[in-house]
Amino acid sequence: MSSSFKTFLKHAAKDFHNQSVNPPVVRASTIIFKSTKDIRKTQAKAQKNPIGGHYDYARQGTSTTYILQKILTKLEESYHVFTTPTGFGAVFLAIFSVTRPGDEIIAADPLYSPTRILTENFLKDFNIKTTFYNPHDLKTLEKNITKKTKLIFVENPGSNSFDFQDLGKILSIAKKNKILTAMDNTWGTPYFLKPIKLGFDMSIVSATKYYSGHSDVMGGSLAVSKKVFSKVKAAERITGLRLGPDDAYLITRGLRTLDIRLDRHRENSEKVAKFLSRFKKIKLLYPYKKGSYNYKMWKKYYSGASGLMGLKIKCKNISSVRKFVNSLKLFGYGYSWGGFESLVLHQEHREIGIRKFFKLAKDEHLVRLHIGLEDPSDLIADIKQALKHLK
Ligand SMILES: Cc1ncc(COP(=O)(O)O)c(C=O)c1O
Repeated sequence: MSSSFKTFLKHAAKDFHNQSVNPPVVRASTIIFKSTKDIRKTQAKAQKNPIGGHYDYARQGTSTTYILQKILTKLEESYHVFTTPTGFGAVFLAIFSVTRPGDEIIAADPLYSPTRILTENFLKDFNIKTTFYNPHDLKTLEKNITKKTKLIFVENPGSNSFDFQDLGKILSIAKKNKILTAMDNTWGTPYFLKPIKLGFDMSIVSATKYYSGHSDVMGGSLAVSKKVFSKVKAAERITGLRLGPDDAYLITRGLRTLDIRLDRHRENSEKVAKFLSRFKKIKLLYPYKKGSYNYKMWKKYYSGASGLMGLKIKCKNISSVRKFVNSLKLFGYGYSWGGFESLVLHQEHREIGIRKFFKLAKDEHLVRLHIGLEDPSDLIADIKQALKHLK
C-alpha cells in the first residue's frame, strides 16, 4: 500500500472541512433555511450534484456522514459510497437496488448466514430466485446463468469456509453475460483489495468490523460504480437506510488507524497460524499454505490478510472442543470480529446448517478465531494451554 494512502487516512476528515482535526458531530433532523429561495437553491444543487452533500432534510445525511462517505469513496476508489446502519444493511441495499421480481441471483456457497437466508428464503416470497455455485468450480456458476440472471453476489473469502475465489474469472463471466456484480469485502477491506477497481459494480464492507476497529459501533458501507449509482441512490432514498452521525464519527475515528491495525492483525495471525499448523488434529482455514488453491487465489488478488481464521478440528468428543474454547482466557467468546481484541466462536449453534454446508463429518468441528492486537506470544501461550483439552 502506498505511503500516500497511509497519510491520507491520518489526515482524512481534516481534508474535508477546515476547522478542527476531527469532524464535528452534527446531529440533526430539521435543517433550517433562510428563505424559500434558499431551500430551492439547495434542492437544485442536490439535483445537479447528488454526491455533493447538499441536504434539505437530515435523513439524507449531515456533514458528519458526508465526511465519512468522502473518505470511504477515496479509500475504495469508487464513484460513491453509501453508508448504512449495519453491514447487513449494506448487503440488503446492494441486492434490493438492482433486483426486481422475476430476476435471478447467483451467489457463492457458503455465504454469511443472514445473506444466505435473505437470498435463499426471504427473496423467494418476492419472486427473486437465488442459485448457489461452488467457489472452487466456476463452471457451476456459468451453468446457473439464465436470461433472468441479474446479479452475481460474491463473498470473499466465504464466511466460515474461508474459500478464496478467482475474482477476475468471475468478473469476465459477468461481463460476457452482462450481469451486475457485488462483493462482500469485509474480510479484506479496501486496504488489501479494492473490488470496484477490479471491476465489481458494488463493494460491501461491514464497518462494524475493521473500519471502526473498537467493537463499539455498528455500520456498513456500500461502494458503487457509476453504472449502478442511480439505482442504489433511489433504493437508499426509499428504504431510509442511512448511518447516523454519532456512528459515522466513531467509524471516521477508527479509520485513521485502519492500516496500522490491519498490518498488526496480519503479523499476529501469521504467528498464530504457524503455531497451529503443527497440530495434526487442526486444519487451518487461512491463506498460509503455499501451493494450495486458496493461497494462490489470495495471493493473486490481495496485498495482505486480516485476523479472521477458521479451525477445522478433528475430534470425536464435542465436549473436548467446548472445553478447548471455554478454557481460552484471552479470547472473548462471542459474535463479530474486526475489533482490537481476540475472539473465539465454536460454530455449534448452527451445527446442522454448518454440517450440511461444509460436508463436515461427525468428528469434525468448526471453530473461528479472531486474532486481535494483543502480544502474539501471549495469544499462543493461551491457545497452547487450552489445546490440552482437545482429546
Ligand atoms: C462477511 C460479513 N458480511 C456482513 C456482515 C454483517 O455486518 P453487521 O454485523 O455489521 O451487520 C458480517 C457480520 O458478521 C460478516 O461477517
